[in-house]
Amino acid sequence: MTVSDALRSRRSVRAFRPTPVPRDLVEDLLATASRSASNSNTQPWRVYVVVGEAKRRLTEELWESLDAGRREEQPEYPYQPDPDEWSEPFRTRRAAFGDQLYRQTLGVEPGDAEGRDRHHRRNYEFFGAPVGMILTTDARPLAGALVDAGLFLQALMLTARELGLDTCPQASFITFHSVLRRHLDISDDETVVCGVALGYADREHPLDDLTTPREQVARFATFLGDGDS
Ligand SMILES: Cc1cc2nc3c(=O)[nH]c(=O)nc-3n(C[C@H](O)[C@H](O)[C@H](O)COP(=O)(O)O)c2cc1C
Repeated sequence: MTVSDALRSRRSVRAFRPTPVPRDLVEDLLATASRSASNSNTQPWRVYVVVGEAKRRLTEELWESLDAGRREEQPEYPYQPDPDEWSEPFRTRRAAFGDQLYRQTLGVEPGDAEGRDRHHRRNYEFFGAPVGMILTTDARPLAGALVDAGLFLQALMLTARELGLDTCPQASFITFHSVLRRHLDISDDETVVCGVALGYADREHPLDDLTTPREQVARFATFLGDGDS
């Protein structure tokens, strides 16, 4: 598989088969992803891998917090603005994705808050993936370390494709960072970046039909100077 094969076949998978992923394979995946570049090779990322009973217990605790309304007001870093504060063209793209996911794929109509919550809840069981990961990065300083962690995340998702695995990056975990911090014994020097579900996609599930579009190159790249370089 080429890098572009991995890029083109990667999608955020939100329905997994229960097929276990061997521990050796997860370790190989992390070792390869750690070849990512980072500021002066500081490698600020850390990964907490949960499987089996540890994963089940984490999900239970997160659902308990969700049901009790104990979601943190402020994530540790501003991953996104409040829903009303998105500017264009991001507001429109986000709305199109929401429609694709909820109405077109899951049959959840706009205004059906219960239907949305039902799906959102599944984030915290890593959408049924056998492996859950919580990615953190050192917070000293945070902005640069987030860039490095983002590179690591991309490398992890692409290498997973090469190994026949699928992933979903999940920022939904950051609104419960204090639960994660306590449960996984995450140090105060680290910031929770996101969760990542890892496993084998359930190709029979309706969610497997979801493929997101991309803008044309001319819409996001500006070329200066004439002709080929
Ligand atoms: C850092 C990050 C956090 C994300 N968090 C979530 C999440 O919490 N739940 C979810 O279902 N998808 C999440 N996504 C997936 C995006 O919705 C997805 O990448 C986007 O719609 C493009 O679709 P694709 O990944 O299938 O190409 C996240 C993606 C990124 C990069």
